[in-house]
Amino acid sequence: MADEVVTTATTTDAVENPLREGLDVVRTGDPAVMVIFGASGDLARRKLIPALYNLAYQRLLPPGFTVLGYARSPYTDEEFRERARQGILEHSSVNFQEEIWESFAQGLFYMAGPYNSREDFQRLAQRIDELDEARNAHHNRLFYLATPPTVYQVITANLGAVDLARPKEGGWTRLVVEKPFGRDLASARALNDHLLQIFLEDQIYRIDHYLGKETVQNILVFRFANGIFEPIWNRNYVDHVQITVAESIGVGDRGGYYDKSGALRDMVQNHLLQLVSLTAMEPPVAFDAKAVRDQKVNLLRSIRSLEPEEVPDYTVRAQYTSGIVNGKRIPSYLEEPGVAPNSTTETYVAWKLEIDNWRWSGVPFYLRTGKALPKKITEVAIYFRKAPHLLFKSQHHQEELIQNVLAMRIQPNEGISLKISVKQPGPAVHIQPVKMEFHYGSSFGRVPPDAYERLLLDVILGDGTLFTRRDEVEVAWERVTRILEGWRLEEEKAKAEGREFHLPTYEAGTWGPKEADELLARDGRRWRRL
Ligand code: BG6
Repeated sequence: MADEVVTTATTTDAVENPLREGLDVVRTGDPAVMVIFGASGDLARRKLIPALYNLAYQRLLPPGFTVLGYARSPYTDEEFRERARQGILEHSSVNFQEEIWESFAQGLFYMAGPYNSREDFQRLAQRIDELDEARNAHHNRLFYLATPPTVYQVITANLGAVDLARPKEGGWTRLVVEKPFGRDLASARALNDHLLQIFLEDQIYRIDHYLGKETVQNILVFRFANGIFEPIWNRNYVDHVQITVAESIGVGDRGGYYDKSGALRDMVQNHLLQLVSLTAMEPPVAFDAKAVRDQKVNLLRSIRSLEPEEVPDYTVRAQYTSGIVNGKRIPSYLEEPGVAPNSTTETYVAWKLEIDNWRWSGVPFYLRTGKALPKKITEVAIYFRKAPHLLFKSQHHQEELIQNVLAMRIQPNEGISLKISVKQPGPAVHIQPVKMEFHYGSSFGRVPPDAYERLLLDVILGDGTLFTRRDEVEVAWERVTRILEGWRLEEEKAKAEGREFHLPTYEAGTWGPKEADELLARDGRRWRRL
């Protein structure tokens, strides 16, 4: 069992608030041997190792916690440690302290080997046993798939074959699977079927790193720990919702992966639909893995499925052309390395998503995400209905003034703001919009921790609340696969009619294609200026 150290609550109402239960508890987990497959790669170096170091720095990693990197590159333990050290120096958000590094590094090991060899996995099993004994890891094992998804099946099949999937007596065995989790409904199902022949569902932790972001978790606390918002969080008061996940970077050196994926698979199926489900779900009966995930699945199931022919009316996809972002020229998507010269892969998606349930019927959720946009920003904005009766008819921009907007800023400058109209000082009635704001940085005096820190700690603790369950992944893929199908038909239709299919474009450094503006303009709305 995990040790629990209860910290002193810092606010007087902490004990009355059920959602704080567990949140103001500092938890450290059991010792374990964590095997990172793909340990020589970017994810391990940039995210996983720095996150583990950060946990060690905060004394949240139990003594005896051991990392065994596994990949094809032939490193020694020493070389792996050196790479880890560099990764931490470049990417950790906490200070580098020699004595913490020394003790952390003693728990880092490496083993080179292929993913498809049973004999090598037997060697791996032996090495795990040796490390377990030497470092007193209590038979707990954590396998992390940080490889390309093409080898997920062969790795897990080999784990099963050498009997590493079944928990050893007295210990636990868990598997963490990175995205992409499939590339459509059929492949996601096939992957789930495969994994579930080897592991039990509650051994599997499917990562969506957005769920590890403090401000994403804060959506639930904001909604369900405050009495004043939930009563108006519905179709009677909300006009529409806008969710933006904008990135200023282009695809850079990830063209090879990205060109086979595109923004819908890369961002919408997972991160944006997670934001939708947390924003729109019904209150869970408890703040635990089952209750929260049950409600998220219910919400995802109420997202309207599009017929393929409807898809062009509800979605917009586009590709960036060359342009300037943050003062630097970005080449057009088609010129990026690894991208097919005639690629129709989208780097931008907008989706008018409708939710067919009592709470949200008739309230559109407008989603947009893209690469090479003017800035990096993620936010959820709730637009409330206008005041029912206009007293101040003579004012300019009265339409704007009376629409209250609650914006939950996920990143950067994490915080929440509420736009309200106030009277400007003076004898005449001049109305002006102002913002009431909460800033995470100034209220808590720190930037939020990296998402991987929280998620790795939760895996070690065996808490699946912030991970996606099988049914959740599949229902999200079902809705997204319909869009993919609609897009495919659109292209086939053009071909059958002897037309060339043209994907809309937008210049890098602008807020997306004009078609996305038209999507909202048709409903008499426009995208929020960010
Ligand atoms: C990843 C996508 O899941 O999320 C990337 O594959 C994207 O394409 C990244 O850049 C964005 O994450 P964050 O945390 O920077 O918003």
